[in-house]
Amino acid sequence: MKIAMVASEAAPFIKTGGLGDVMQALPAELSRIKGNEISLFLPYYKKIKYDPSVETELVSAFTVNLTWRQQYIGLFRWKNGSQNLQVYFLDNEYYFCRDGLYGFYDDGERFAFFAKAALASMCRIALRPDIIHCHDWQSALVPIYLEAEYRDRLPEARTVFTIHNVEYQGKANPDFFNEVLGLDDLWRGVCTHDGCINFMKAAVVKSDAVTTVSETYAKELRYPYFAHGLSGILASRGDKLRGITNGIDVETCDPGSDKALVRNYSAEYLSGKLTCKRALQWELGLEESDAPLLAMVTRLASHKGIDILCYIIRRLLERNLQLVIVGTGEAKYEHALQAVASEYPKKFSMNLKFDPALASRVYAGADMYLMPSKSEPCGLSQIIAMHYGTIPVVNAVGGLKDTVPPFELSTGTGRGYTFQSYNGDDFLGAIDRALGDYFNNPEAWKQLMKADMETDFSWKLPAQKYMELYCSLI
Ligand code: GLC
Repeated sequence: MKIAMVASEAAPFIKTGGLGDVMQALPAELSRIKGNEISLFLPYYKKIKYDPSVETELVSAFTVNLTWRQQYIGLFRWKNGSQNLQVYFLDNEYYFCRDGLYGFYDDGERFAFFAKAALASMCRIALRPDIIHCHDWQSALVPIYLEAEYRDRLPEARTVFTIHNVEYQGKANPDFFNEVLGLDDLWRGVCTHDGCINFMKAAVVKSDAVTTVSETYAKELRYPYFAHGLSGILASRGDKLRGITNGIDVETCDPGSDKALVRNYSAEYLSGKLTCKRALQWELGLEESDAPLLAMVTRLASHKGIDILCYIIRRLLERNLQLVIVGTGEAKYEHALQAVASEYPKKFSMNLKFDPALASRVYAGADMYLMPSKSEPCGLSQIIAMHYGTIPVVNAVGGLKDTVPPFELSTGTGRGYTFQSYNGDDFLGAIDRALGDYFNNPEAWKQLMKADMETDFSWKLPAQKYMELYCSLI
């Protein structure tokens, strides 16, 4: 099968969040399935273009129109691709040669261009994909431009749109339709929602299938509380909206070979994990203690549950435990947490930075991983934590609910600790249950660590599910 993936980020080239991880692992896993040819289309951002380790070659140069604008496209191909996995970068310095990926005044125009340029590029190289799989609002106009302007040249292509986060929809004022999109007026209704242009809504309506990144989030998206204004539209797609839970790249995220760790370990040889804990305590200036070490690697934003963490943090730190947080974000949370950390220097280490190697050492060295997100489409870090034998304590929403079934001491089933309503006291209650088992049932705790480490979180199963979906469309 020929599958074209269109996305705004993909590791190892460029990444701002979980989308970048998924766009690295999913195309790679699909490309391992016999008979598949995957082509990934990304913007040629400044950071990629000037990265000497990413070698590319120019395939073609041409132009595409957005109403009166005639815009250049340089189609570059990654030199290290393979027959089964090609990566293409769409070059236009005016739109993409900037510091950063998103957050510019003309993001709408930039990603309208990106969608059209991706389709124009497929035509240019005569790719003729069976499936075009688009991700989040930045590539959401692909299914629209395909129907409106490229159908004759891509007659077989079926479209799949995946929502990684419904919070960002790509909205623009109504003038944007004539001013930038340049589509026939019959497309105005499809592209409009609540009085403004909405990229994601258009993709939800026009794609042959819509997916999101966990089964529970697929259900939640039908309710206003979670759907940020799109619940009606999403519910109207019925069972065309389905959830496929993400995996993790078990080769790069592996405590058995992770180079950032002082000692590697596995479910069979768990003792290395204690060495990692001691090394982490030393590295962060925490007391060398047997107290459980709780961790978070997160953006400091309220939807990640930092508001309820701040509400309980002093009570939390009165308990016999240590806490480490790695991440940056909203200034009010950075200041609040740093202030608390300065009061508890031996117990609480606050690291205001984005540091993947430190993150690895934290996943390995910690005993528990806290993820109280208000909503979470899938969440990858709780999965990484489990893979490193670190027990998650999570709010039971979205992918957190699907990947962390509650642990039952009597039966030994489950993978972590959950709470059901978004408030600090319930969160603290779940942490207390985890602490109770940690102190009182060390053998059961050890079995839980092993079970979490042995769970298959790889991309194999999700990739198969995507294949089934693609096959059902063509
Ligand atoms: C977004 C979501 C996150 C998900 C990731 C990859 O970042 O917020 O929950 O894991 O996309 O799909």
